[in-house]
Amino acid sequence: MELNHLIPGYQPLPFPLPVWLMQVLLIVGFFLHALPMNVVLGGGFLASILFLIGRSNQASYCYRTAKALAVSLPLFISFAVTQGIVPLLFLQLLYGPAFYTSSILMAVPWLGVLGVLLISYYISYLVIYRILKKEYSQQQAMHASCWLLAMSIGFAAIGYLFSNNMTLMLTPQKWLAIYAESARGFHLNAEEPQLIPRYLHFFVASVAVAGMTIGCFGLYLLKRERQFADWMIKLGSKIFLVSTIVQIPIGLWFLKSIPDTYAAAFLGSDVQMTAVFMVSMSLVLLTIVATSISSTSGNRQAFIAGLACNALLILAMIINRHQLRLLYLNSHVKPEAINVSTQWDLLAIFLISAVALILYLVWLCRLVWKAYTAKQLESTT
Ligand code: HEM
Repeated sequence: MELNHLIPGYQPLPFPLPVWLMQVLLIVGFFLHALPMNVVLGGGFLASILFLIGRSNQASYCYRTAKALAVSLPLFISFAVTQGIVPLLFLQLLYGPAFYTSSILMAVPWLGVLGVLLISYYISYLVIYRILKKEYSQQQAMHASCWLLAMSIGFAAIGYLFSNNMTLMLTPQKWLAIYAESARGFHLNAEEPQLIPRYLHFFVASVAVAGMTIGCFGLYLLKRERQFADWMIKLGSKIFLVSTIVQIPIGLWFLKSIPDTYAAAFLGSDVQMTAVFMVSMSLVLLTIVATSISSTSGNRQAFIAGLACNALLILAMIINRHQLRLLYLNSHVKPEAINVSTQWDLLAIFLISAVALILYLVWLCRLVWKAYTAKQLESTT
């Protein structure tokens, strides 16, 4: 069967915005999703390990950092979920024919994301309101550690399912064989060569970003508890540094796992892709230098420089990821061919609501963090 006959057509309605603008919104939306999602994914594992290490002393820096991370997780989860809706909207509009088909082929595990998300989200509250509310004991710390591990496995599974869908949608040539094997929607994309390196790339990045988050807690506490804040900045920088060094071979593996012509696009054959890739690599070097300094000295400026470079690095990588998607899909799905009837009023409403939502979530974070630090001060006086 002709491959293009397999790919469903677009909806008959014209696009509400030009394609380039929707692509920009998809990239920015995914960036806003990726930041908190990384904190959730890596932060849960880190909190679990820190509770384990600090279990014998509630005044230890490890225990206190674990607690600070655990308390902040539900907020980051709500950020990740609400900011996931933005890229979801534009992904459906722009690449719906590919995304819907892959979602149907893996319908059961894909819908399972909702169940796993609910359970993991619930566990994050259970840790705060059931376990950490109890009188401190080693057993309490162990319970928190085990529950956070369970929660994190749930989030890691969600990330894995996303990577399956995001890669399956890129390869329409596989769909017919998969569907012929079974039409029951139980498929994953486990045979895909880029799946594991791509997923590991996300996973290790999430630990690095969670490390930076610990450093940010340190920045916030700098005026109140200098020693603890320094310790957090150093620990966060070390976690970032080690994860980023581990990321180098994984990144190379990822590059090797995609077809040679696509890999070549990052390495010179496509000017735009190569330029973004080179910017990313320069930012990797800068973050490594900056966090090497802050990991030994606790230097605030170096940490902030590392943080800024890291945010830009994530954005550059997301742009590269989008360009890679275009290489895979260009010959199959053509959003540029769809008519556009621009609805600026709808765009204005969308942007105002998105900004209002972000402001609301930032306000909520500050409120919770203030309440948490006030309680911490009360319990130490
Ligand atoms: C909090 C748990 C979540 C985790 C750990 C998570 C993780 C991930 C990961 C790892 C990817 C990248 C996959 C890849 O490209 O290989 C991804 C993409 C994506 N996520 Fe999430 N996600 C979570 C929740 C959500 C929710 C609830 C939504 C929707 C409301 C969402 C929307 C998206 C979208 C639309 C993409 C693809 C964006 C694009 O391709 O440009 N995520 N997610």
